Amino acid sequence: SLYKESNRPQFHFSTRRGWINDPNGMVYYDGEYHLFYQHNPYERNWENMHWGHAVSKDMLHWKELPDALYPDKIGTMFSGTAVVDYQNTSGFRTGKEDVIVAAYTADSPDTEVQCIAYSNDRGRTFSKYEGNPVIDTKAKWGTRNLRDPKLFWHGESGKWVMVLFEKTGMSFYNSGNLKDWEFQSHTLGFWECPEFFELPVDGNPEDTKWVLYGASGTYMLGSFDGKRFTPETDKLRYFRGKMYAAQTFNNIPQKDGRRIQIGWGQIEQHGMPFNGMMMFPTEFSLRTTRDGVRLYSEPIAGIKKLHNKSYRWENLSPADANAKLKEVGGDVFRIKMKVKLLDGTEFRFKYNGNPLVHYDMNWNNLNGAFYGGDQIDNFTFYYEILVDRTSVEVFADNGKFSLISQLEGAKNKNGFEFEENWGSIRIEELEVHELKSIWE
Ligand code: FRU
Repeated sequence: SLYKESNRPQFHFSTRRGWINDPNGMVYYDGEYHLFYQHNPYERNWENMHWGHAVSKDMLHWKELPDALYPDKIGTMFSGTAVVDYQNTSGFRTGKEDVIVAAYTADSPDTEVQCIAYSNDRGRTFSKYEGNPVIDTKAKWGTRNLRDPKLFWHGESGKWVMVLFEKTGMSFYNSGNLKDWEFQSHTLGFWECPEFFELPVDGNPEDTKWVLYGASGTYMLGSFDGKRFTPETDKLRYFRGKMYAAQTFNNIPQKDGRRIQIGWGQIEQHGMPFNGMMMFPTEFSLRTTRDGVRLYSEPIAGIKKLHNKSYRWENLSPADANAKLKEVGGDVFRIKMKVKLLDGTEFRFKYNGNPLVHYDMNWNNLNGAFYGGDQIDNFTFYYEILVDRTSVEVFADNGKFSLISQLEGAKNKNGFEFEENWGSIRIEELEVHELKSIWE
């Protein structure tokens, strides 16, 4: 049956057929989370960009709907975002439902322009605005790298804001009606797929910062007056690896207040009728660290609903842990561990011969990325690991840094194994959860 193929991710979204890349138009409206995405419905490679569409009530279980935006005379449907226009500032509303407005890039061999489309039926069908494109800036910038509008409502100034990737950075535009846009400012140093939002620092609503990031996950923190972003940091990173073009949900109710991201997993699905996937939804927070305020990203708490069978052990040697881990079954997992390096420099945690975690103290590396860990006072390391057949996500130090990688086929059938190379470790805590499929 559907979604049962051998390389089909079991708790991450993937499309039934074809290629997917960036998430698009992520918006919450009246009990539903909408995930649109770059979709080639015809082939397993990038081409013919449409907006695919899926909905969910919990960000775990998804239902794929017909594609929402098809290529037209202006171009193919590149990335963008969507908002609920609660005040009908656009005048697009026709019925009882609030109108959802999407902004996207139309890409043609000649240029890239920004367009809008609207839906009066809960995102099921969209009409393109007859005045498209709403932004055409090829002459101004002298480039065709003009894409990926991020829309949101800025309450303080009572205006819509669009953040748009143009040339070598992110431009900020304002509008009162989502149709007429005025350029305000430009921040250099980011490529594709802008994301921009405000978050409290350490949960304190009186102390907030704005986060600006591009497709590769480099970010800056700063302030925003509705027109201009003023950076307060250099470029930082919160992840590395095979994730790209992440965005966050617009219009999650304020009393909830969560800022939740989904990123495109550049994961090759060998031999499958589909290709690529979405990485697991993560919740963002800003926390004060010894280096200053940093962006953290952790799997949404709802993941607990997928726990099927759980194991928990404490204070184990690697040999003990490896023996216990033989009890674990299934092929999709959530794992949490606290490991102490007692002597030497390195250790690995493997799954069927493939390293999920490789810590190297000498080179201050986690899985080859320059991230040594937060726990330098006592050499204790915290990892949360999500394993879903073709992909692995490692969240270090409660989400301070994450790594997304392709999981290649099994090299052996040993299951999970700790390996001490040039080091010795104690596994202070180990939690393994076999997960349920979201497709059941
Ligand atoms: C990022 C990206 C976007 C573009 C889209 C096209 O992966 O290149 O900039 O809108 O993909 O599919």
